[in-house]
Amino acid sequence: MRLSRCHNFHDFRTLAKKRLPGPIFNYIDGAADDEGTYRRNSAAFDDCDLVPNVLTGVKDIDLSVEVMGQKLALPIYCSPTALQRLFHHDGENAVAAAAAKFGTMFGVSSLGTTSLAEVRKKYDNPQCYQFYFHRDRGLNRAMMESAKEAGVEVMMLTVDSITGGNRERDLRTGFSIPFRLTLGGMVEFARKPMWGINYVTHEKFALPQLDDHVDMSGGAISIGRYFTEMLDPSMTWDDVAEMVEFWGGQYCLKGIMSAADARRAVDIGCTGIVLSNHGGRQLDGSRSAFDQLGEIVDAVGGEIDVMMDGGVQRGTHVLKALSMGAKAVGIGRGYLYPLAAAGQPGVERALGLMKAELERDMRLMGCRSVAELSRENLRFRNATGDRPRSA
Ligand code: FNR
Ligand code: LAC
Repeated sequence: MRLSRCHNFHDFRTLAKKRLPGPIFNYIDGAADDEGTYRRNSAAFDDCDLVPNVLTGVKDIDLSVEVMGQKLALPIYCSPTALQRLFHHDGENAVAAAAAKFGTMFGVSSLGTTSLAEVRKKYDNPQCYQFYFHRDRGLNRAMMESAKEAGVEVMMLTVDSITGGNRERDLRTGFSIPFRLTLGGMVEFARKPMWGINYVTHEKFALPQLDDHVDMSGGAISIGRYFTEMLDPSMTWDDVAEMVEFWGGQYCLKGIMSAADARRAVDIGCTGIVLSNHGGRQLDGSRSAFDQLGEIVDAVGGEIDVMMDGGVQRGTHVLKALSMGAKAVGIGRGYLYPLAAAGQPGVERALGLMKAELERDMRLMGCRSVAELSRENLRFRNATGDRPRSA
């Protein structure tokens, strides 16, 4: 299968599965426990119907949005994800280059395999730094200082990971970090020689944001153990308020799910929240972000920028989220499969297809700009008590 035959999320996933060794593909594709939230994240969009208006004289489509003071050419951005060098040897550089080409935001993860300073210097698009709050307070300070120095516009603190989700696929495959080609894995990797050749002939795997602070020499640990052993479960709202003050700029909490927490994010001066269940990779059984979106927008939509991610695979998913009141929508696997499939050209193709779908869908909705999208154009088929019939 070639990149030119990839027309949607599922095609990219198929190609990524062909290209990647099993343990790495399953790290991306997997989620927590029974993966119910992961499935529900996308299924939630199917319970919602679009009601278009016609004859509205739609000529030019304006897809631009402004979130947390950043102007994005698209209402979609690339959510921060870890270990991208494992998915393609160009890793975060490929994603940042593609996001910059489409004028949208990208964020390096604390577990990124390229330094945030390098990505900030090389690409001119709005960037966030996704921050994990470690037990080592010195590391936390150092990370924020280097992000500030690098000129990253948005600090994005992930708050749904104080302990690792139960990733049973990773337990079965033995996937762990820092990534080492273990003997057992060799067989898997021998089956994907191209991946193996690229892996060993490009720069060594590293976690630049952590390398000077976290001693990973004690052997490989699973992602779940990294969360449990390295991150600080005692983090409180006061700790976050202190960091918001120190940062003194655009500060976003990723992984907010409840209206009460969204309200607290406003109270401590955050400028954005990402309504997210981490792509179903943390607390399985969490409500899908799209199902929860109406409640959060009603609670704080006018006071803080509400973004969401989780399960977004189509332009219509983005339209539904924007119509429900999200300011912008993040994708994770939606660019990771393309990255694994074909590096920067893969991510560019995926963003191009999403942009084309969005433009087509906006036209068919009779909307010229994101601002014209509203709940008026949504109907929920199995409205539950907590969700209005005509949204
Ligand atoms: C993630 N995600 C994530 N989030 C975060 O705050 N820091 C991180 O390092 C990572 N790493 C990561 C790796 C992989 C392989 C995946 C799939 C996801 C979560 C990510 O930012 C986003 O919330 C979800 O991916 C959104 O769901 P979809 O779009 O993947 O369905
Ligand atoms: C994950 C972590 C790294 O979801 O956020 O794998």
